[in-house]
Amino acid sequence: MSERLEIRRMEEGEGRDKNGVNKEIYEGLRGSPKDISSWPKYLYDERGSELFEEITRQPEYYQTRTELSILKSLSERIDLEGSFQELVELGSGSASKTRALLKPIVSANSKARYIPLDVSESALTESADKLLEEYPSLRVSGYVGDFDGNVQEFLTNLPGSEGPRLVIFLGGTMGNFSSSKRMDFLKGVREGLSSGDRFLLGLDLVKDHSILEAAYNDAAGVTAEFNKNVLRVLNRQLLSDFDPGLFSHRAVFNEEESRIEMWLDSVTNQKIHVPVMSTDIEFSPGEGIRTEVSNKFTRGSIEEMFKGSGLDLVDLYTDEDELFGLALAKPE
Ligand code: SAH
Ligand code: TRP
Repeated sequence: MSERLEIRRMEEGEGRDKNGVNKEIYEGLRGSPKDISSWPKYLYDERGSELFEEITRQPEYYQTRTELSILKSLSERIDLEGSFQELVELGSGSASKTRALLKPIVSANSKARYIPLDVSESALTESADKLLEEYPSLRVSGYVGDFDGNVQEFLTNLPGSEGPRLVIFLGGTMGNFSSSKRMDFLKGVREGLSSGDRFLLGLDLVKDHSILEAAYNDAAGVTAEFNKNVLRVLNRQLLSDFDPGLFSHRAVFNEEESRIEMWLDSVTNQKIHVPVMSTDIEFSPGEGIRTEVSNKFTRGSIEEMFKGSGLDLVDLYTDEDELFGLALAKPE
């Protein structure tokens, strides 16, 4: 292993069973409607991470290419703002877009360090290896772990920083949180930043509903596979017996909540056995589990979200068509 690489594992928090499963997920499966969308991390095992990468290459999924184009156009400007020594990335995945920011940071700073955090160990190690190869002076300190409820602790306990940090959270992943979790997360990030640090946050924007729904219903069916993969993860973790073939993928825009909702609808009457739970989970035909939400924002809702978070919104960068936004923020 390269001397420039270290990978660490973060401790599991409280409230997990022996498999690391958040016990609240049992309540989610018992509820009405059944709803596990508060825990997006269960979508990302090794296969989930691969499927997500495939989603990002689908023609209907405009987010990744749009976010990359905005990042490319503003990367030089952002580094001028901070002269960053460290780039910290939350939910880094394949880090495919990160290069647009690493490039100016590495060329301005021979001691630059990249610090990715992701629950998906496979995504983390693969992306770290590639970046080390591409940037011969870059040091990488990766963390395998969960940022749920931990982001302040994570940022605060990073080994001593030698210069200002840019913390990034891309891919619209923040949109997968509920609004109360978004606020807690922003406050956590704020507490973890020093005065010269900056936070860059990728958010998907409200747009024509047909464009939004198409992005989560790609013709090749990759998103459907990705959605169903969560049942395989649950089976492994809960020893349950979900049959992904007996569920169908549905993604719809909920206008009132301004979010895409992903569901898995049971195609038949069925009973799922979950040994760790005392009762079976019953489904009637057409009854669904909400597996994920993806909130969509406007300029106004983004400004509103930052209010009271302790972070000042410095600027909101978008593409020409205002499909996607990158919010740059600093401690108040
Ligand atoms: N940033 C990448 C990946 C986005 S997909 C991009 O923009 O393309 C969301 C990523 O967040 C996945 O890699 C997933 O493994 C990670 N993730 C989801 N929930 C997480 C959690 N609770 N803690 C840490 N990482 C998480
Ligand atoms: N952060 C991505 C988004 O909200 C995650 C995502 C893309 C996703 N496609 C999905 C989550 C399909 C669940 C199902 O767009």
